[in-house]
Amino acid sequence: MSSVHIVHDPVDDHRRGELLFDGALLIFPRLPGLGAFRDRVADLIRERFGDIDPETAHDSLGSDELDAAIADLRVAVGKDPAARELVLTALANSGVDLEDTYWDRVNLRLFPPGSAHARRGTGWHRDTWGSNIAAQTNWWTPIFPITVERTISFAPDLWQEPVANSSADWSPAAARQKTVPMIPEPVEAIRDTADMPVVVQPGDMLCFSAAQLHRTVPNRTPLARFSVEVRTVSGADVRAGRGAPNVDSDTPEIHYRWFRHVVDGERLTAPE
Ligand SMILES: [Fe+2]
Repeated sequence: MSSVHIVHDPVDDHRRGELLFDGALLIFPRLPGLGAFRDRVADLIRERFGDIDPETAHDSLGSDELDAAIADLRVAVGKDPAARELVLTALANSGVDLEDTYWDRVNLRLFPPGSAHARRGTGWHRDTWGSNIAAQTNWWTPIFPITVERTISFAPDLWQEPVANSSADWSPAAARQKTVPMIPEPVEAIRDTADMPVVVQPGDMLCFSAAQLHRTVPNRTPLARFSVEVRTVSGADVRAGRGAPNVDSDTPEIHYRWFRHVVDGERLTAPE
């Protein structure tokens, strides 16, 4: 059963897991500390684009220039020590125990409008089709204001409904070699299901189980969507075997090693 919770106080890892692994979406409006993270990322974006408005840069830059800017920015944001510290502070303010949390990276996504950029978005997928980690939690926040036509969307009816997909044949090595898509995909049409876009604003955090079926809303606005995703795993959840029920992921491996401890960088390992 999917539900949406507006959360104004910290929620500890265990309680957050109970909600998320039962299909809830959590929204932390004006999460303390997230505004400072947003400002830092916006500064990095504006530095890279110079005099050009980042949200309309696709109108004036050639595709090679835009590709280069996006690639540079994804690295700059991912490696920026201030951005990392600021987003960890915001996560801690939401109730995350940083002493027992693993993550992969601070992942900036830039999604301009138009068919030429459609490949930068994702179709319907569950992140667990790739990682296969039932406890994986996704955090998502926009850097500039978004609308219902420039955001992320969920298929709440399919939270516990199997969707035929290509996860059984997927591996990170094959994805790098481009013999399979970057992430596993549905192999059946997804139609006649509720498509629930969620609109939050800069400084708000959206949090959901990686087992939620979600996608990028095709951008039909004049402005590019800038958002950041962070994926976390609670060590306690992994040790206790907690997580979202798996209804359709057949990924051959569980990719614990994608995740590193947020403080000491130690890799997550399979439970003993
Ligand atoms: Fe995703």
